Amino acid sequence: MTLGIAIDRVTKRFGGVTALEDVSFSIARGEFHAIVGENGAGKSTLMKILSGVIADYEGSVSLDGVPQRFNDTRDAERAGIAIIHQELNLVEQLSVAANMFLGREIRRGIGWLDDRSMEREAARQFERLGCAINPNERVSRLRIGDQQLVEIAKALLLNAEILIMDEPTSALTEGEVERLFDVIQLLREQGVTILYISHKMDEVFRLSDRITVLRDGRWIRTLDRAATNRQEVTHLLVGREIDAGNWTEDRRAGELILEVDSLSLPWPGHAREWRLKDISFELRRGEVLGIAGLMGAGRTELLECLFGTSEAAPIGSVKLIGQVFQPRHPADAMRAGVALVTEDRKRLGLFSQLNVRENISMCTLKEFATSAGLISSAKEQQCVSDAIVKLAVKTGSMESSILSLSGGNQQKCVIARWLATEPVLLLLDDPTRGVDVGAKAEIYAIIADLCRAGMGLIVTSSELPELISICDRILVLCEGRLTRAFERSDFSEEAIMEAATSHSLA
Ligand SMILES: Nc1ncnc2c1ncn2[C@@H]1O[C@H](COP(=O)(O)OP(=O)(O)OP(=O)(O)O)[C@@H](O)[C@H]1O
Ligand SMILES: [Mg+2]
Repeated sequence: MTLGIAIDRVTKRFGGVTALEDVSFSIARGEFHAIVGENGAGKSTLMKILSGVIADYEGSVSLDGVPQRFNDTRDAERAGIAIIHQELNLVEQLSVAANMFLGREIRRGIGWLDDRSMEREAARQFERLGCAINPNERVSRLRIGDQQLVEIAKALLLNAEILIMDEPTSALTEGEVERLFDVIQLLREQGVTILYISHKMDEVFRLSDRITVLRDGRWIRTLDRAATNRQEVTHLLVGREIDAGNWTEDRRAGELILEVDSLSLPWPGHAREWRLKDISFELRRGEVLGIAGLMGAGRTELLECLFGTSEAAPIGSVKLIGQVFQPRHPADAMRAGVALVTEDRKRLGLFSQLNVRENISMCTLKEFATSAGLISSAKEQQCVSDAIVKLAVKTGSMESSILSLSGGNQQKCVIARWLATEPVLLLLDDPTRGVDVGAKAEIYAIIADLCRAGMGLIVTSSELPELISICDRILVLCEGRLTRAFERSDFSEEAIMEAATSHSLA
């Protein structure tokens, strides 16, 4: 018997959808084992089985040779297995510390909650992660990157021996990723087994001992990292060639569509005073403008100003096609032809009660209305099914619940919704977060198409190489200020990173 997890002939079906089929492989104690595969390959489903979230499946799982059947996450936690989910699972109304201790509160003798101890312990975990999150802060007030760190700190509290991380870095910027890797390194030295799902080959190759590839719910191969390479893994996971095209070829900028002049966004009660300060730039039709910067630099805030969702009212002047543009609500922005694909799909992008069709068509329903005011379902269905094909959304049917889709496929539905509105200006806030390599290429091709059709696009990304490959120009923000603008001819990762951390110019 070897120590570790043995997965034996595991099959999981959701109604007609087979998420996992006859999957067998094992994970050794102490190893860093990466699980890779396209969106919908079954990665999260398998991890949910290992961590007790899903109790109903065929096949068996054993731990150090002993068969296990976890009925819930508590069972798995008792066996030393904890999971950090892909979609965050925090209670937004509660404080950071309350979330971390939910269900395992520290009590004093007679049962009173010991808030002090919980806050102290929470603060200690953040210190270990090297980040400054206030344990008293309400989770709803944290940005998604910080929320992810709360999830990680929460799992660390359990002192798990086996830690499952489902795309933990998808919302983190380079600096935060480095910080997380330091923590992972520490955990490995302490003998913690790590199961790690990621779409980022850099991470997979940097950290793994072994890599398991899943495709369409099946186990394809488990490889030693030292005996393989990215090409082989990418090839195994997509099972076909992917287009590594040149996404910016033949682009010509047209008329001016956006003129931003000295845009500033106040930050009441904060020492820095301004979330954004004196930002000026222009955008033409047929251009892709990238916004680079570290977490907290103001990338999302800038897009929010242009979509009418910023917390405070921005000052300065913005013109859209020559007209003064001051949206205070998304409806204002949409009417003017602006759309935003958000980074935070759970809070702002997805309508969890609705199905796939409704999520895609909700912003364009007006166009499908017949003269009697009824929604013409044939037309709507055509539009939705075109979008599903175009973006290769993997779903049972268009009537499936949006939550039944894998994370990456949910993201594709959000993109499809906004594309259907045919905007003049499309704002994409980290659009490929959690999207697999094949689908990324599809999204890049769509961006290039939209550009050719005369749309203007502004894109942010947590992956700098992505911006470098798809943008015509890149603006760099640091602490709310524009530190540098790059033309395509002088893009360089080092120079952009330097501008993103160059406080001296601010
Ligand atoms: N609760 C559910 N109900 C119905 N189908 C589901 C459910 N959960 C997952 N599925 C389906 O199972 C398949 C595998 O999903 P899973 O979430 O495991 O994929 P994944 O590999 O994690 O993908 P991603 O990289 O996009 O996160 C998908 O086709 C998905 O639609
Ligand atoms: Mg997943």
